[in-house]
Amino acid sequence: MPGALALREARALVRDARRVVALTGAGISAESGVPTFRDAGGLWRTYRPEELATPEALARDPHTVWEWYDHRRGFLATCEPNPAHRALARFFLRRGTAGLITQNVDGLHSRAAHEEAGGGAPDAALPVELHGMIARDRCNVCGQRAPGEPLGDHLPRCARCGGLRRPDVVLFGEQLDAASLASAQSMAARADLCLVIGTSAEVYPAAAIPWTTLHSGGHVIEVNTQPTSLTRAASTAVHGKAGEVLPALLE
Ligand code: OAD
Repeated sequence: MPGALALREARALVRDARRVVALTGAGISAESGVPTFRDAGGLWRTYRPEELATPEALARDPHTVWEWYDHRRGFLATCEPNPAHRALARFFLRRGTAGLITQNVDGLHSRAAHEEAGGGAPDAALPVELHGMIARDRCNVCGQRAPGEPLGDHLPRCARCGGLRRPDVVLFGEQLDAASLASAQSMAARADLCLVIGTSAEVYPAAAIPWTTLHSGGHVIEVNTQPTSLTRAASTAVHGKAGEVLPALLE
């Protein structure tokens, strides 16, 4: 296990913390086989986000955008939560207070929470999904949400208004859901410890969450395979794979 000293320090911070939040990014799902965005092999090294993940692309060429998301949705449905998702789910189930915030749209935190709870997970173990959820659709006109289905011959239409449906994820240039963001910011402001796991911490406003905890006088523990722009500000950085570090850190 890399960074035994950092891990010991981090365990002491977790033990002493009263209110904990965790912000996760694509790196926590890497060991489930989900590609990240900015590492070697990351999605944005292969694809151009402006052709696939912007409102302009959706308006210009909805078929191509839908095909890409439909492919990703199908692939993500085959991925399983890994020991990092499970350790976090058990941690928040034990604590009984909400604190999990994710940028991931893969739904793996929710699946881990339901599996660890042995059925319907309490709200405390479910994440605030800042960037949405790929398995769900949302109407691009009226906002009505619906379970996603595999793409057929025609693009899916809203049952309520007939408008074009799209995956319920935040595209580049779009605002985050205001209620989710407010809830995440308020949890971060009240926390005395923020765990930042598997994110390059480059995409705002999510990347501001650990700074909110720091500015309120709390600590930050970073868990990542590599240093990031947050590392120097963190109280402790544990370098290693989330699936190995989190069970050792939280249990
Ligand atoms: P990135 O791809 O930017 O960063 C992934 C981070 O995970 C990197 O810092 C890696 O070093 C780290 N990492 C990789 N494998 C790891 C492992 N096994 N354990 C721990 N860390 C590991 O992904 P995000 O920060 O999540 O937005 O990207 C933020 C947003 O940018 C995403 O939510 C997405 C993207 O555009 C939307 O889809 C709206």
